[in-house]
Amino acid sequence: MKRPLSNILVTGGAGFIGTNFIQSLFRNPEFSGRIVNFDLLTYAGNLENLAGVQREFGGSRYEFVSGDIRDRKSVQEVFERFDIDTVIHFAAESHVDRSIEGPEAFMTTNVMGTFTLLDVARKAWSDRSGALFHHVSTDEVFGSLGADGRFTESTPYDPRSPYSASKAGSDHLVRAYYHTFGFPATISNCSNNYGPYQFPEKLIPLMILNMLEEKPLPVYGDGRNIRDWLFVGDHASAIWRIITKADPGSTWNVGGDNEWENLRLVNVLCEKVATARGLAKDHYKKLISFVRDRPGHDRRYSIDCGRIRRELEWSQSVHFDKGLDLTVAWYLENPEWIKNIRTGNYRDWLDRNYGRRSKVSG
Ligand code: NAD
Ligand code: DAU
Repeated sequence: MKRPLSNILVTGGAGFIGTNFIQSLFRNPEFSGRIVNFDLLTYAGNLENLAGVQREFGGSRYEFVSGDIRDRKSVQEVFERFDIDTVIHFAAESHVDRSIEGPEAFMTTNVMGTFTLLDVARKAWSDRSGALFHHVSTDEVFGSLGADGRFTESTPYDPRSPYSASKAGSDHLVRAYYHTFGFPATISNCSNNYGPYQFPEKLIPLMILNMLEEKPLPVYGDGRNIRDWLFVGDHASAIWRIITKADPGSTWNVGGDNEWENLRLVNVLCEKVATARGLAKDHYKKLISFVRDRPGHDRRYSIDCGRIRRELEWSQSVHFDKGLDLTVAWYLENPEWIKNIRTGNYRDWLDRNYGRRSKVSG
């Protein structure tokens, strides 16, 4: 089915994945529509990421609206003003550690914010055909794996952190709207993303930035937890496939077929950053520091993304080795971005958090 994709509402477009998605859409020759980026600009939202897009497309094919997805009136206004026909819903509180420290914003934004968006869209689209609401979710809703097995689209939900429980709640709401009201929605559950513009609270950028400051590299627990890493541009291309090809009501797993133990990944990153800066290969490894584990830390994630490969002909294009090189180079080449981000709330939170976390060895 051909969808209009004329006026796309991207929520959370100033965050890590939203930014990369918007940039990729404006590079995509198949896309000729307009994007409305609706974002609250929490600590994780950074408009500087989209300064180039604003310069090139602002006022014609790109609009930024500052707003909260929990605020029905603002959401309604955006639907009316821009005649929205597609929603790509990224906006969320996204960091597991923060959900342990303070879960409330995860419930209000991820659950109630998603509900508000769904409800406004359902009413706005009651007479419209070809509209689509795509909900961006996570593999964490499936829980934690042991040494074997992979998550498929039919794996039962078993969220174990306040973050993943809030994302699971939002996924259930999206499905309920499809089943109850015939609301046109799709969902993707993706594994760990990495790449440019990622907020340096997440493992990869946090490690790179700490290396640059010769600070300890905090590895939680025994460092043997496993994540399945995907370059953020490949997540963006998967979402494009879904919004252009998938049927309403469908759910898609997206992953990198790329499982890494955290400690092994941190060692590789140490070598890459050292090499890029002309230092001895092992220079940063002495900074690795085992710290107390994240409470309820999921052991292993592994996504089976065979279905999106087969049915939507999606494949990832950036190999992990190349993607890590690109990512390291991006952080080394953007000291101003890092400086600006560190003047915000984040710095305080990080210092507070790591100040309290007791070091157990290293
Ligand atoms: P992020 O934290 O970098 O960005 C979140 C964005 O949402 C920010 O721009 C923030 O300002 C905005 N936001 C937060 N609360 C809002 C509200 N109430 N109203 C409007 N805007 C609000 O997150 P990310 O890593 O880019 O993740 C984007 C989405 O993808 C999330 O839904 C997340 O659950 C999902 N996801 C992330 C990953 C990953 O590895 N990062 C993997 C799979 C799925
Ligand atoms: O799986 C998808 C999810 O990936 C997304 O839904 C989340 O939004 C995203 O934050 C991410 O969650 P994780 O908890 O897996 O990502 P994080 O970068 O916080 O941690 C990755 C792994 O590294 C995890 O096992 C915890 C560990 N870790 C993390 C940090 C920040 C450390 O050992 N040390 C650290 O300092």
